[in-house]
Amino acid sequence: MKEQILKIFQAAKTDIASAKEADLQLISAKYIGRKSELADMLKKVGNLDREKRKLAGKLLNQVKNQIQKLIDSRKADLLTEKQTQAKRDTSLPGIRPTTGHLSPLTLVERELVGIFRELGFTVVTGPEAEWEKYNFDMLNIPANHPARDEWDTFWLKENTSGGKLFSWMKPGVSKNTLLRTHTSPVQIRYMLDNKPPLRIISPGKVFRYEAEDATHAAVFNQLEGLMVDKNINVAHLKAVMLHFVRRVLGDEHNIRLRPSFFPFTEPSFEVDVSCGLCKGEGCRSCHGSGWLELMGAGMVHPQVLRNVGIDPNEYSGFAFGAGIERLAMLKYGITDIRLFLGGDTRFTNQF
Ligand code: DAH
Repeated sequence: MKEQILKIFQAAKTDIASAKEADLQLISAKYIGRKSELADMLKKVGNLDREKRKLAGKLLNQVKNQIQKLIDSRKADLLTEKQTQAKRDTSLPGIRPTTGHLSPLTLVERELVGIFRELGFTVVTGPEAEWEKYNFDMLNIPANHPARDEWDTFWLKENTSGGKLFSWMKPGVSKNTLLRTHTSPVQIRYMLDNKPPLRIISPGKVFRYEAEDATHAAVFNQLEGLMVDKNINVAHLKAVMLHFVRRVLGDEHNIRLRPSFFPFTEPSFEVDVSCGLCKGEGCRSCHGSGWLELMGAGMVHPQVLRNVGIDPNEYSGFAFGAGIERLAMLKYGITDIRLFLGGDTRFTNQF
């Protein structure tokens, strides 16, 4: 009898090990159910004599419990298998990760860079913490000249420790530094290192100690441009400006040059673009004039060329400085410059 019971147990064990979920109920009925061989044997145990009855009963019950345990653990194994398979179900639609996107300023800046690259301009950059000499003096804006009032300046404190305030500074000469008020010092840096012919643009942050409002920010971006070669004149300036404005804002736009003053250009201009809202008719946005001020520009002042060792009798050039926020505002119809750095995702997510 003992052998028979162990045989049943072995058979149950093999069946359970390879069973699918649906088979387990049948297996349970077959081996430990009411009509199973084991149940039959249990019924017959009563006929045995006392000693044998005790042993057989014990063994039968042990085996029955053992088979139940095997069934339960097989069930649990099948369930975890199913769950891990579900985790790996490659037919499920994926979960889209939230990714960021470019700021409208970056979009416009990249567009501008692309346009000027096509025209053969090289992109160069300069430091945001700048020498007074490059930001002002060499651009023909000497100390105490009233033109400096045009650029409300964040001056940097003298570094008294004798160490370097910025990586590009020589130790001990950290005097007269400021946060650049415009990108024009990059012109100086580039012309000191490169001889004409040259064509560069330089996008970047500039800083002004100013009260902020809808059209003024203390930190904003400019795109500086410079072209120096033989026989460069205002016609070149105007052609490049018109091409660039039409590429960014649309072919329906016109530009006009208005006389202006910058110490580093002569003659100097204010470049206006026809108002996109009223098509030049005059509306609230352009204060009735039909034109919007876009950027400063001019022919590089002979003194500036001399300052960097270029002979103004041999070479001439034009330069311009455009506000990148200004262009983005015109392009996208944005009415408040503070939105760019405000961090409001309802604004930024529109681009
Ligand atoms: N740097 C001037 C400013 O920030 C803009 C400017 C005007 C740049 C004329 C130029 C230029 O290169 O030729 O107001």
